[in-house]
This record gives sequence, structure tokens and C-alpha cells, in this order.
Amino acid sequence: MVNIFKKVDNSSQLETDPLLGSKAEIQPFWKKSWFIICMVILIVVVFSTIILYVFYHKNGSLNDIHHVESKENAFTFNATTSSDNPVNVESNENVVTYNGATSSNNSVNVEYKSYPTSRVSSIATTNGDYFKQCAPAVTCNPDDIYRTYNGSCNNLQNPNWGAALTPFYRLMNAEFDDGNNTFRVQLDGKPLPSARQVGVTLFYMRDIRNYDHANNELLVPWGQFLTHDISYYPDDIRNDSTPAHLDHCFEKDKTKIPIECETAILIAADDPVYSQYNVSLFKFVRSTTSVNFSCPLTPRTILNRNTQYIDASHVYGSNKKTADGLRTFANGKLRSRILEDEEYCPQNADSEFKDGPLGKSDVQFAAGDVNVNQNLAIALFQNLFLRYHNHLADEIQTLNPSWSDERVYQETRRIVGAIIQVITYEHFLPILLGDEYMKEYGLTGQTTYDPSINSALAQEMTSGAFRAVHNIIPAKFNLISANYSIIDEVEPSRVLLQPDLLIGNFDNMLRGFLDTPGRAVQPSYNNLITNVVFKIPNLDGYSGFDLMSYDIQRGRDNGLPPYNKMRQLCGLKKANTFKDLSDLISSEDIETLKSLYSTVHDIDYIVGALLEKPRNGSMVGPSTACVIGDSFYRFKVGDRFFYDILGQPGSFTPEQIKSLKKITLSHIMCASSNLGHMQKETFRYVDPKIMSSIMYSCESYKLDLSPWKEVQ
Ligand code: HEM
Ligand SMILES: *[C@@H]1O[C@H](CO)[C@@H](O)[C@H](O)[C@H]1NC(C)=O
Ligand SMILES: *[C@@H]1O[C@H](CO)[C@@H](O)[C@H](O)[C@H]1NC(C)=O
Ligand SMILES: *[C@@H]1O[C@H](CO)[C@@H](O)[C@H](O)[C@H]1NC(C)=O
Ligand SMILES: *[C@@H]1O[C@H](CO)[C@@H](O)[C@H](O)[C@H]1NC(C)=O
Ligand SMILES: *[C@@H]1O[C@H](CO)[C@@H](O)[C@H](O)[C@H]1NC(C)=O
Ligand SMILES: *[C@@H]1O[C@H](CO)[C@@H](O)[C@H](O)[C@H]1NC(C)=O
Ligand SMILES: *[C@@H]1O[C@H](CO)[C@@H](O)[C@H](O)[C@H]1NC(C)=O
Ligand SMILES: *[C@@H]1O[C@H](CO)[C@@H](O)[C@H](O)[C@H]1NC(C)=O
Ligand SMILES: *[C@@H]1O[C@H](CO)[C@@H](O)[C@H](O)[C@H]1NC(C)=O
Repeated sequence: MVNIFKKVDNSSQLETDPLLGSKAEIQPFWKKSWFIICMVILIVVVFSTIILYVFYHKNGSLNDIHHVESKENAFTFNATTSSDNPVNVESNENVVTYNGATSSNNSVNVEYKSYPTSRVSSIATTNGDYFKQCAPAVTCNPDDIYRTYNGSCNNLQNPNWGAALTPFYRLMNAEFDDGNNTFRVQLDGKPLPSARQVGVTLFYMRDIRNYDHANNELLVPWGQFLTHDISYYPDDIRNDSTPAHLDHCFEKDKTKIPIECETAILIAADDPVYSQYNVSLFKFVRSTTSVNFSCPLTPRTILNRNTQYIDASHVYGSNKKTADGLRTFANGKLRSRILEDEEYCPQNADSEFKDGPLGKSDVQFAAGDVNVNQNLAIALFQNLFLRYHNHLADEIQTLNPSWSDERVYQETRRIVGAIIQVITYEHFLPILLGDEYMKEYGLTGQTTYDPSINSALAQEMTSGAFRAVHNIIPAKFNLISANYSIIDEVEPSRVLLQPDLLIGNFDNMLRGFLDTPGRAVQPSYNNLITNVVFKIPNLDGYSGFDLMSYDIQRGRDNGLPPYNKMRQLCGLKKANTFKDLSDLISSEDIETLKSLYSTVHDIDYIVGALLEKPRNGSMVGPSTACVIGDSFYRFKVGDRFFYDILGQPGSFTPEQIKSLKKITLSHIMCASSNLGHMQKETFRYVDPKIMSSIMYSCESYKLDLSPWKEVQ
């Protein structure tokens, strides 16, 4: 294997990177006495862990195994550092009385008894406008046993519900200053604080260098893979003119100010990273709207270009043309190509993104979703499922030699969609939300189809709640070889749009996600993803952006209600003063919020979502869990093709459902890579060296396909 990654050399490259600024420590960490002490502690902990494990955990429970962090940190090797952020606590504040200012630890008094057990229902008044004014007429065949490509005809009474190119669902009315389009302003009429300013003041250098004690990094590629199944809404025309172009934003002559400036994100002169780059604005392009599809709705309405069901549309395409383009039309298989003796997605001849940060990428994958090449993790998963489809199609065809290409393709497509649902509901969501929320939001047990439920993706989910999970994206992805040594590492923020790097590294990347503990849940993004995303080296000036600023600004662009309204929607107490947030947010953070926002009613949803203390057993706070829970409830009971629904023309048989329920991500990986041994709980971190006894041979992860054999 040719190693194409440049080894990140002891982090020294990062430490001297001017972007990381003065905060970075220059002396190598391994020479520091605290590091030596940490290593000694680490060794002691590891040894006592092994002993404890051997004596008490023969059944493989991992709950008590704690990993002392050492590797992720590129910025400051401060094991539990937080809050050396440049907080301005000069409160130019007003009305709000606050008596907790002196207590500055991060404890929050949380009582978790009174959260809602009912599902959220939409209170948006414009939800149906598209269907009244713009929806196409569709004729459905109620006896179809397979999903349509664009998701139409899933709901027979409302055939456009959840289809591609229909609007996101709104739980609450859109919030725009003029009611239709312009960004929300604060209650006192002032503009909202700059998204970058909010990010820097609350979250900069707040990385907590702890690993997730139970889970590996796979939650990240799975979360993004799932996102791309249900969501795609691109920006308006990307203008590739250089950032210098934004100089014109400050023109005195207002007619010369380019449109991009309207929503550009202001960067303060004392910004800890960008001040050195002379960059005072991030370009931010608003999402396209229904106007771009000849449907001029108000308020601003955004169409989802992927189907809004969990149906593997990112593998197959959200319309017939894309789907056909990806098929071989022989034996039910998808087009693919062999590179370095392994199977990969076909080449996308007209990809719009050819130049990644590390140069031109000759490899451009084509898949059902156009974001397949965004980063190596999503590229890995798209390729994983391409391989899996072709593997499964082979088996189905062998089992039923008389079946046509169409039948094998559709049956395989149906099973792949079902498998994504099984992994999501049985394995992923219980970790993300925890068992209590799973029950409260009706996400467990046998599904009963409810045609009154619109399964479309909520705007509050895709522009807010689900993005809060960006907080577990690690600073680095490891590449781990067959003998479990880390042979390389890549920064996801720097290898965007470089899918060529996947070739020859497929198994090593998979092992990297499996065998590296995840980033601990915390109220911050890693310092790289929030500062240097898409940075293109060797370009004059600065060309990157900040994912957190974008997430905050996107919420405003998409008209999300502020945090306080989302709290109420979720059945939490409405905050009348900043102090009322102390049920879920630390007093330190409340002080910082006061310095940024005029009133407690102005806080952006994602900002509150990131600061909320998660409930025990969950990775997200209550006002995030509520929107995620509601969304996955609707994806379940509002999907006529949901895998365990009975009595529909497209239902699986009870034997097939039984077989599907046993599927884990380990099965998919075993079938589509050269990994030989896997743990049962694929998302759990299992140290392959210490705990190899609970990693079973791939032979034990087969899908029992016998219920798919047609009996004549
Ligand atoms: C390496 C990992 C990831 C990277 C580099 C990444 C990056 C991005 C970027 C650049 C955007 C568009 C931002 C904008 O312009 O508004 C985005 C959107 C989004 N991300 Fe991520 N993300 C990652 C993982 C995840 C994960 C793990 C989740 C959730 C579990 C997630 C959920 C979302 C959602 C819901 C959106 C909006 C959906 C859409 O654009 O259609 N992402 N992400
Ligand atoms: C950790 O961070 C704190 C606060 O910034 C600082 O005072 C301390 O010196 C740091 N410790 C180490 C070991 O770097
Ligand atoms: C946090 O502050 C509270 C009240 O001020 C105090 O009782 C508690 O011991 C503190 N916790 C920590 C971990 O410092
Ligand atoms: C979905 O596909 C059907 C069949 O091709 C088509 O008639 C319909 O217009 C599409 N729906 C939307 C919202 O574009
Ligand atoms: C918002 O849209 C409505 C309905 O199209 C229109 O009557 C109203 O004038 C618009 N308001 C603004 C400020 O554009
Ligand atoms: C990008 O912006 C420049 C300057 O405003 C303009 O001349 C150019 O046409 C724009 N490009 C696109 C693709 O809109
Ligand atoms: C920074 O910007 C100022 C004003 O736009 C300019 O005079 C100066 O040359 C720039 N410095 C660098 C290093 O680009
Ligand atoms: C989308 O619509 C807006 C508003 O009419 C227009 O300015 C923009 O150019 C359109 N973008 C595309 C990609 O058609
Ligand atoms: C593990 O594999 C890598 C590359 O495949 C090799 O360089 C290394 O020497 C191996 N290490 C051990 C301990 O076998
Ligand atoms: C959190 O949940 C775990 C398992 O459900 C339980 O053992 C533990 O006591 C809980 N911790 C708190 C602080 O409630």
C-alpha cells in the first residue's frame, strides 16, 4: 500500500501553525513533567483496568473503563482545560438581576423529572402552503411494494409528503425580522451578535481532552451518513471570487456593495485566530429557497432535495435519473470501479468540486447524494454501502436465479434501506438519546403506521438540533493497520474534498473509527473544525471558515426560532431572565450569554443546545433531544415502508423482519471490507489489544437471507 498521507509529525506542525496562534505550546509535550506523570498514571490505570476487567467483567461490560486522554490534543495538552476563553464579563446589562455571578464552577442544578412525554406537534401556520400552491400532481399505485425514488406516494392521502424537493417541516413559525426574509434581530431592535463573536466568546479553546468512555468514533460517520439520507439543501450560487472580494462590503457607496456582504459573518479585530490574517468577514451564502423552483412562498421556504425518509436515498439517488445513472442494469448491481484491487463508487465526471485543500483530486465519487466527497468519513461510508449493495445483490441473485435485474435491484435496495433503519433505531439512537428519551419519544418497539403523521424533516432539526452533534467530530481521524498500530492520522478539517486519499486506505480508516474512542460530549467543537475548515493552503489571504459560525448563521438564514422558544416547545420552562436558564446551563455560561445577547429571548437555538447539560445517559440536552426525538418518531410511524410495519403491500414478512432485526453495522463492515473480527456492539469502543476476546470472527455476523428465497 502506498502511504499517501503525510504523517502529522508529533503535532509540531500544528503547534507552529500561525493559525493556532499564541495559545499553542511550543515545547514538545513529551518533555513536560506533567506528561510523564500522566503516562505513569496511564500505565497504572491501564494495568489496574486489565486486572479489574479480568476479575469483574468477564461478560464484557465496558462501563468502568476510563481512558486517560493523550492523543487528540493539538492545541494545549491540558487534560481537562476549559474556559481560558477571552470572556468579556463587562456586562453592559440592564434589567436582568442575577445573583449567581460569584459562583464560577460549571455545576448545573438539573431536575429531570418533568420533561414532556408527549411528542412535539407543529404549531407553524405556513406548513401546508407548498402543498396548496406548488406541489405537483402525482398519481400513485397503492399496491407498489417498493418505494418511489423521490419518496412521493409514501403517504397515499398526501402523496407529496416527505418527497424530495418539497419543503422542510416547521415545528414553529419561521422567524424573520420582516416576517419573510431578513435575519431575526434582538428584542431591542439591535442586530444579533456576530456568529463568530458568539462562537469565540463562548466556545473558543474550550476543548475538553477527554475521550468518550464507552463509544468509538463511528458515531460521527454514521451520524453524517444518516444526515445525508434525509437532508440536502445547498447554498445559492457559490461565488468563488477570492475573499478579498469582501473588501467591498465596507464601500461607502452602497450601490457597490455585493450581495454576499448582506449575510457575511463579521470577524472582530481582536479575533484570536483571524486577526493575524487580516480577515474581517467570512463569506456566507444563504440557502436556496422555493423561489429557485418557481414557487415564491413566504416566509422564505427551503426545499429538501433528498427524500425525507430513511430510505438509503443517498446510496441510490432521490430521483429516477440519478438512480438509473448509478445502475449497471445487470444482476441488480450498482456501477462501481476497481482501484488498487478494491471496489469503489464510480467516477463523477462532472463534479463541481475538483480542488481540495491539498490540491486536485482526480477521484470524484458519484453516489445518490452529491455530498459524497465532502470528507473522508462520509466518502468511506458511501463506498461501504455501495460495496454492501453489490455484495447483497449477488447473494439475492444466487438465492433466486430467476429474478430479473429489476427485481434483484429493488429487493436489495429495500433491504439496504431497512438495514439503515435498524442500525439507526436499535443501535445509534439509544446511544445518542439514551434509553429514557427513546421510550419517551416512542422510538422503541413495534411500529404502527400512522398516515396522519408527516414524516418530513424539520427545519429545526436540520438547521439546529442535529447539528449540535458536530460537537463530537474529533480533531483527527486515525488510520489503523491490521496489526492495530496507528500508521497515520488525518485532520477532517483539512482533508475535505479529497476523496482520493481513501483509495488504498479503506480498511485502515474503518479500523481507525472502530478502534479509537470518540470525542467526549461537550459544549464546544474541536478547535480545528471550528477554525480551519476548508482552508486552502498557499492561497493568498485566508480561505477557510468556521463550522460553528456557519451553524449559528445557518439557523438565522433558515429562520429558526430562538432557544427560549424551542425550550417552551419542548415543554421546558420559559426563561424570563437569563437566570432562569440555570436549570440547564452553567452560571459561567449564563454570564457569557449576558455579555453577548440583549435578552434571554435572543439566544440562538444551537447555542443554547450546545450549552445545555445532557441528561444522564444521553449525549444531548433536553431541548435538543426533544427535536431529535420528534423527528425520529415521525420518520418511524409516518413511513409506510418502515421496516417493521406489517400489513402494507411493501411490508417484509415476519421472518424477514426477524432476520433484519439481528443486523448490526458489524455485519455491513464484515461483508464490505477485509476486517476479520468485530465486536457485537459496533459503536462501543473495544480496545482490540486488551479485549480481543469480545471481538468475534466475521463468520458470526451473517444476515440470514433464507426468508428471501422465493418458494415456487
Ligand atoms: C467529519 C464530520 C462532519 C463534517 C466535516 C461536517 C460538516 C458539515 C458542513 C460543512 C455542513 C454545512 C454547513 C452549512 O453551510 O450550513 C454540515 C451540515 C450538517 N451537518 Fe455536518 N459534518 C460532519 C458530521 C456531522 C454529524 C456527525 C452530524 C449529525 C449527527 C451532522 C449533521 C449535520 C446536519 C444535520 C447538517 C445540515 C444538513 C444539510 O446540510 O443538509 N454532521 N456539516
Ligand atoms: C492548564 O490550564 C490552566 C488554565 O488555563 C493553566 O493555568 C495551567 O497552567 C494549565 N496546566 C498545564 C499543565 O498546562
Ligand atoms: C460548585 O459550586 C457549588 C456552589 O457554589 C459548590 O457547592 C460545589 O461544591 C462546587 N463544585 C465544585 C466541583 O467545585
Ligand atoms: C416525484 O416523482 C414523481 C414521479 O416521477 C413526479 O411525478 C413528481 O413530480 C415528483 N415529485 C416532486 C415533488 O418533484
Ligand atoms: C411578506 O409576504 C407577504 C405575503 O406574500 C406580503 O404580503 C408582505 O408584504 C411581505 N412582507 C415583506 C416585508 O416583504
Ligand atoms: C461572483 O462575483 C463577482 C463579483 O461580484 C461577479 O462578477 C461574478 O459574476 C460572480 N460569479 C458568479 C458565478 O455569480
Ligand atoms: C491588512 O489590511 C490593511 C487594510 O486593508 C492593509 O493595508 C494591509 O496591507 C493588510 N495587511 C496584510 C498583511 O495583508
Ligand atoms: C435563486 O433565487 C434567487 C432569488 O430570486 C436568485 O437571486 C438566485 O440567483 C437563484 N439561484 C439560483 C441558483 O438559481
Ligand atoms: C504493523 O503494521 C505496520 C504496517 O502495516 C508495520 O509498519 C509495523 O511494523 C507493524 N507493527 C508490528 C508491531 O507488527
Ligand atoms: C446515571 O445513570 C447510570 C446508569 O443508568 C446510573 O448508574 C448512575 O447512577 C446515574 N448517575 C446519576 C448522577 O444519576
